[in-house]
Amino acid sequence: MKRIGILTSGGDAPGMNAAVRAAVRKGLSMEMEVYGIERGYEGLLDGDIKKMEWKSVGDILQRGGTILRTARSERFMTAEGQDHAAKMLETFGIEGLVVIGGDGSFRGGLDLDKRGIKVMGVPGTIDNDLGYTDYTIGFDTAVNTVLSLISNIRDTASAHERTTIIEVMGRHCGDIALHAGLAGGADVIMVPEIEVDLNKVCRKVLRGQQSGKLHSIIIKAEGVQMNSIELASEIEERTGREARAVVPGHIQRGGTPSGRDRILASLMATKAVQLLYDDEESKAIGIVGDEIVSYAFEEALKIKREFGNDIFELAEILS
Ligand code: F6P
Repeated sequence: MKRIGILTSGGDAPGMNAAVRAAVRKGLSMEMEVYGIERGYEGLLDGDIKKMEWKSVGDILQRGGTILRTARSERFMTAEGQDHAAKMLETFGIEGLVVIGGDGSFRGGLDLDKRGIKVMGVPGTIDNDLGYTDYTIGFDTAVNTVLSLISNIRDTASAHERTTIIEVMGRHCGDIALHAGLAGGADVIMVPEIEVDLNKVCRKVLRGQQSGKLHSIIIKAEGVQMNSIELASEIEERTGREARAVVPGHIQRGGTPSGRDRILASLMATKAVQLLYDDEESKAIGIVGDEIVSYAFEEALKIKREFGNDIFELAEILS
């Protein structure tokens, strides 16, 4: 394979730039021509495609966001859109694609694969919601961002003797809440994977109060179908202690990527380019244990995510 394209798609994630840099430089080092496609599938449909050089990806390793920019493309979701995208790749002579994104972006990749394009998927999303890989690029940074928020909230919550609910991102997946909750010593973790028992939550808060704790921190994943502000009022009413809800939102998606995310991005993106070079069938790249793995695209998307019950139980014991 001589000419490849790279795009980032869906919600951005810290470490996407590190993945773009690694893919471009790996491709160039193997004498391939590398093209950057702007705004994900949206830019592909518009032919927004530019040749990348070694220097095009200089000074981006440490930056959040994505220099290629990203989008959630409605147009690409139709069969006509996908046909048009495949034609556009043909027009530019691009034989293989590195898609950096989450679940939706991978499904788009599969649609292109069915139209004869080789696609390698690199998992870039803070949600960590892909079943075939232990971790996605951006997750570690998002967890660390939440940890720093927890520290700030703890100060003010203690000063006022309050309960604070921090609602974190993750779409339908509770992993950010789970990992930040354990690492941040949250009193309660609420995730969509485990049914919420409000009585138990309030008992936990009351027990903390009675033992002299100045604050209670509850980490709630956005996938839990409860309004955080209403939840705060309910807990305040039941426990007699003031409660507040904080929704940090997109703050969790920005910021300089952690070392771990940069390394993960570099390993996975170079693997993707190597597979294109070797003319392999379309694959999704991941990490299982310490090993970088790749699975046939369609199979990878069928693997169900397993929730970390052990981590959840441990957090309950330790808090
Ligand atoms: O998929 C990443 C994510 O940040 C989710 O955690 C969140 O639900 C969603 O994207 C927010 O999407 P948008 O940026 O389009 O509002």
